[in-house]
Amino acid sequence: MRSHYCGQLNASHIDQEVELCGWVQRRRDHGGVIFIDLRDREGLVQVVYDPDLPDVFAVAEQVRNEFVLKIKGRVRARPEGTINPELPTGEIEVLGLELEVLNRADTPPFQLDEHENVSEEVRLRYRYIDLRRPEMLERIKLRAAVTRNMRNYLDDNGFLDIETPMLTKATPEGARDYLVPSRTHAGKFFALPQSPQLFKQLLMMSGMDRYYQIVRCFRDEDLRADRQPEFTQLDLEMSFMNEDQVMGVMEGMIRNLFKEVQGVELPEFPRMTYAEAMRRFGSDRPDLRCPLELIDVADLMAEVEFKVFSGPAKDPKGRVVAMRLPKGSELSRKEIDDYTKYVGIYGAKGLAYIKVNDWSQGREGLQSPILKFLPDEAVNGIMERTGAENGDLIFFGADKANIVNEAIGALRVKLGEDRDLLEGDWKPVWVVDFPMFEWDEGAKRWTALHHPFTAPRSDQLDLLESDPGACLSRAYDMVLNGTEVGGGSIRIHDPEVQEKVFSLLGIGQEEAEEKFGFLLNALKFGCPPHGGLAFGLDRLVMLMAGAASIRDVMAFPKTQTAACLLTSAPSEVNPDQLRELSIRLRLPQSEEKKAG
Ligand code: AMO
Ligand code: AMP
Repeated sequence: MRSHYCGQLNASHIDQEVELCGWVQRRRDHGGVIFIDLRDREGLVQVVYDPDLPDVFAVAEQVRNEFVLKIKGRVRARPEGTINPELPTGEIEVLGLELEVLNRADTPPFQLDEHENVSEEVRLRYRYIDLRRPEMLERIKLRAAVTRNMRNYLDDNGFLDIETPMLTKATPEGARDYLVPSRTHAGKFFALPQSPQLFKQLLMMSGMDRYYQIVRCFRDEDLRADRQPEFTQLDLEMSFMNEDQVMGVMEGMIRNLFKEVQGVELPEFPRMTYAEAMRRFGSDRPDLRCPLELIDVADLMAEVEFKVFSGPAKDPKGRVVAMRLPKGSELSRKEIDDYTKYVGIYGAKGLAYIKVNDWSQGREGLQSPILKFLPDEAVNGIMERTGAENGDLIFFGADKANIVNEAIGALRVKLGEDRDLLEGDWKPVWVVDFPMFEWDEGAKRWTALHHPFTAPRSDQLDLLESDPGACLSRAYDMVLNGTEVGGGSIRIHDPEVQEKVFSLLGIGQEEAEEKFGFLLNALKFGCPPHGGLAFGLDRLVMLMAGAASIRDVMAFPKTQTAACLLTSAPSEVNPDQLRELSIRLRLPQSEEKKAG
């Protein structure tokens, strides 16, 4: 139907006859001449209709925004003074010779150039129109460029693209499962995969050696800006490799991706232990662009009068930290109150601070609601350890260690953004040496920090029994600018170790047999040492696109309540379908009322 894309025309096409198809971005009448900005995937071009061709002109008069047209015309240079340097096609225009309206369009629910004021709800309901906006189109194109680049790299490195089932058994990654009832097995359910974890391990046992898949994963969990109920992983697994080799191949892929798609040479990927990341940044996904750090001061606070500090300082599970904010003494009372509210979201009960006005005057030069509680020794220690200078402010957090880490860790990131402290565009880091297990105080049991198939460090096997909490795993996370873009591990390939880990996690022999019998069996039939990882593709593209949410890099995302506004899914099904599936509904009372 067409000879060129609208956006690809330029001065080299002058005097050529072209056929174009696209949407009307705008139509303007200018004293008897009609200008139509015609838009397609590749951009815009201006088409001009003169009244000399009355039939065609009459059709041009009828067109409205978003009509779909096919036109024929001749490319010509724009007259002097009308060249538009902002537009790639701005040197030329097309003199329209023919015009066919392929389809009409109702007035769109929002102007394509006014998206700023359009609610996300409306954008999602009319996603097909929202995606016409150049900004969205660019993101979708970027995503395609990313997957193309990854596939090329992985092909070049001997990876096989292999599909794994969507209708399967529960795959434990820590979220709730999406279930699918089976018609042919009444009362039984498939689970949609939270990840292809077990299948990719089985593929290694089959000798596939190197596997990858760009694959949809399903997790019924609380949603946030960087989480969706269905999302895409670049999932990988490799045999006969140790963690250094796996990380090396993956780092190579990400470097190559940034270089070829973004034109960015990423800096070195440093490695940081989980313990160091928690200690210095309060987070296992530290944003290394932010120079602020948490500094332990519990030893200075153990004997102070202020119970808020001395309590956690003496509690083995407590933590007391200081964080210096350069030039922070210019913060207003209101700003400090707002930050206090902010850390409250993470459970912090307050946010003590010291403003350093003039340290040459000693204590007199400091300003703080807690100064009166602190002896000279503690004050001197704080000043020395934080390296605070005149004009700085020191924040404090004291509580159980997990609360301090979350609250002050989040404050650190927020201050970094609010105060424009971020250094460098891209700061990747591998976080390594994660603990195998985490103690769940509520449930009174160990849970796997990564997943139950992650191998413990081989020099620490004895800790599995003697001190599970101290046992480190062979897991690694790739973190970029404070976002966990990928994570994985070397896996357990010894059935005995696997059984031991299951039992530590409170998964008894019977349950292990029922849930993972196929894996335990497979481990007995010649399993190679293997490991891998999975990247969150949406998160990676979100970062590369500079988007605020992963919804902005997905063509058809779901809302915060895991619904699709475009199709109105999920929706009710007819009673016959339910009967076939042997399902009877037992709605919560509130839902019954709605339904009735
Ligand atoms: P994990 O659970 O860490 O590991 O997931 C890997 C990566 O997937 C992304 N991700 C998500 N993205 C969007 N929405 C979500 N709800 C969501 N959940 C996770 C993150 C994360 O780093 N099977 C293991 C990998 C392995 O061990 O090889 C796994 O799934 O970027
Ligand atoms: P209070 O004695 O409760 O008025 O607190 C004195 C100062 O300590 C205030 O600035 C509080 O914000 C701060 N504060 C209270 N609890 C904590 C805590 N757990 N961690 C850090 N600062 C706190």
